[in-house]
Amino acid sequence: MLGYKSLLSVLCSLSVTSAMIPIEIIGNRFIKPAVDARDAGEVFFVTGVDYQPGGSSGYQDSNPTDVLSDAEACYRDAYVLQNLGSKVNVIRVYTVNPELNHDECMSIFNSAGIYVMIDVNSPLSGESLDRYNPSQSYTYSYMERVFKMVDAFKNYPNLLGFFSGNEVINDAKSAGVDPKYLRAVQRDIKQYIENNANRTIPVGYSAADVLEDGLREVTLEYMLCSIDGDEDDLSKSDFFGINSYEWCSGVSDWASSGYGELNKTISNSTIPVFFSEYGCITKTPRTFDEVSEGVYGGLVNTLSGGLIYEYSTEANDYGLVEIASNGSVTIKKDYDNLKSQLENSTIPTIYSDEVSKARIVTCDKAYLKSLSSVFDVDFDLPDAPDGVEDMILYGANNSNVGKIVDIDIRASNYTIFDTDGTEITSAVISVASTNTINSQTGTSASGSVHHPSTTSSASSASSVSPTSSSSRGQGNRNAQCAGLLSGLTVALLALL
Ligand SMILES: *[C@@H]1O[C@H](CO)[C@@H](O)[C@H](O)[C@H]1NC(C)=O
Ligand SMILES: *[C@@H]1O[C@H](CO)[C@@H](O)[C@H](O)[C@H]1NC(C)=O
Ligand SMILES: *[C@@H]1O[C@H](CO)[C@@H](O)[C@H](O)[C@H]1NC(C)=O
Ligand SMILES: *[C@@H]1O[C@H](CO)[C@@H](O)[C@H](O)[C@H]1NC(C)=O
Ligand SMILES: *[C@@H]1O[C@H](CO)[C@@H](O)[C@H](O)[C@H]1NC(C)=O
Ligand SMILES: *[C@@H]1O[C@H](CO)[C@@H](O)[C@H](O)[C@H]1NC(C)=O
Ligand SMILES: *[C@@H]1O[C@H](CO)[C@@H](O)[C@H](O)[C@H]1NC(C)=O
Repeated sequence: MLGYKSLLSVLCSLSVTSAMIPIEIIGNRFIKPAVDARDAGEVFFVTGVDYQPGGSSGYQDSNPTDVLSDAEACYRDAYVLQNLGSKVNVIRVYTVNPELNHDECMSIFNSAGIYVMIDVNSPLSGESLDRYNPSQSYTYSYMERVFKMVDAFKNYPNLLGFFSGNEVINDAKSAGVDPKYLRAVQRDIKQYIENNANRTIPVGYSAADVLEDGLREVTLEYMLCSIDGDEDDLSKSDFFGINSYEWCSGVSDWASSGYGELNKTISNSTIPVFFSEYGCITKTPRTFDEVSEGVYGGLVNTLSGGLIYEYSTEANDYGLVEIASNGSVTIKKDYDNLKSQLENSTIPTIYSDEVSKARIVTCDKAYLKSLSSVFDVDFDLPDAPDGVEDMILYGANNSNVGKIVDIDIRASNYTIFDTDGTEITSAVISVASTNTINSQTGTSASGSVHHPSTTSSASSASSVSPTSSSSRGQGNRNAQCAGLLSGLTVALLALL
């Protein structure tokens, strides 16, 4: 007969069903709530990569798999992403099919400690707003696909948020017609979430970094404000992503990159701003100086991190790794350089009670017009297409509603090669106890707040204390197993 200890270890190592704590937002920061409700949450800096193996042209609705439904590939890439450094915590996925099952991949990334941001659109016709014809492309069938995306992903705890659009505005012409449609789509998505999901899920826009005609600043200010000062205005963005290629590593520095100007533009933001893409490739291999000197350096008080474009090498040549047609992955020099940049970056520990609470900015047309003469500052949002309000009320009825499932902790069947061509063996993801919280007792809401360590600095809202490896939440899994053990003890005693 097995002893208690070995029985316990068998029960606790077979497979993992796990759930990370959903990310919340306070003011202009993402917050990871504490596991223990008595502790303050921590500011969450997005640190990760954009992930779309196969590229945007690789997606078809008729494909049998998408990038989040091939578990072997997800095991492989979750390992490669973990190996990029312990700070890596987010991937952004641009195109997936709401009808396919994403449970294994989402559960693998969850176990690996990685949150996922999902674009609700696809590059295919009818599956996004047409930037030069938004009124004709804002249709029932488009919104039906969007709502099915929400259904497919809403129950994954490691879903960080949805992008309502990507670079829809990219010039003066699109800026003159799109803005109110972007807010209308966000309004519909957030109403759908309110009626059809169990939790709040952040929704925001990913902007092209266009400085001409003041578009970067006006787009941020247009998307974050509340119409008529309504604090429950669902059409406003919960966060703002910028696809920024201003700093080309090996070429630019803080002064020549324009990061100083960007720092000013976003310093007053009332919502989190982060780079939804960055990593200029003017000079390769990329040295990624902008990571430690910019994103987690000079911008750290205003920006909430960023996502490097991109994981795999596609036609446009931005990859950190090469994926061969047989599925093997080869690490590129860019990956090693990014890894040392991340190691060299200090991500500050800021507690949720040090973050300024949400501030409501009332939409001000005259102010917005002063930022850009070409931007349509109309806040008279178009009504949802016929039938969309019924879908919001009664559901889009996607039967494919995702959930976290048991996964085996094992290596992928694909081979992974290092930069020097040696095969990486035992490429098994590691699972931190903090990723296996099945019921969250923590909350970032105001109330009694303890910092985990008595030595933590009593820093002010804007100051920054050095990263400490927080030990909160550790032992939680053991606690679950101990619970199991005490249950077993009761059962065994009952047998006697
Ligand atoms: C909310 O969560 C419960 C329990 O996990 C689940 O049964 C239910 O379907 C969820 N509701 C929605 C709207 O997703
Ligand atoms: C930030 O807000 C303050 C107060 O509203 C204002 O005076 C200042 O000009 C703003 N700064 C920027 C860069 O928008
Ligand atoms: C960026 O802006 C913030 C907020 O205004 C400021 O604290 C910080 O010093 C700025 N960074 C640099 C490098 O100037
Ligand atoms: C897969 O392809 C790569 C590159 O072409 C090659 O080096 C590797 O040996 C192949 N792996 C397998 C398992 O066939
Ligand atoms: C790491 O930071 C140190 C000190 O700022 C700097 O000297 C060094 O070049 C950096 N290394 C990398 C890989 O950026
Ligand atoms: C979803 O099902 C409900 C209840 O059966 C129904 O009223 C509604 O019309 C359906 N929605 C769609 C988009 O088919
Ligand atoms: C991967 O390898 C495992 C054994 O390590 C095997 O059981 C499984 O069938 C393989 N899966 C695929 C898709 O080849």
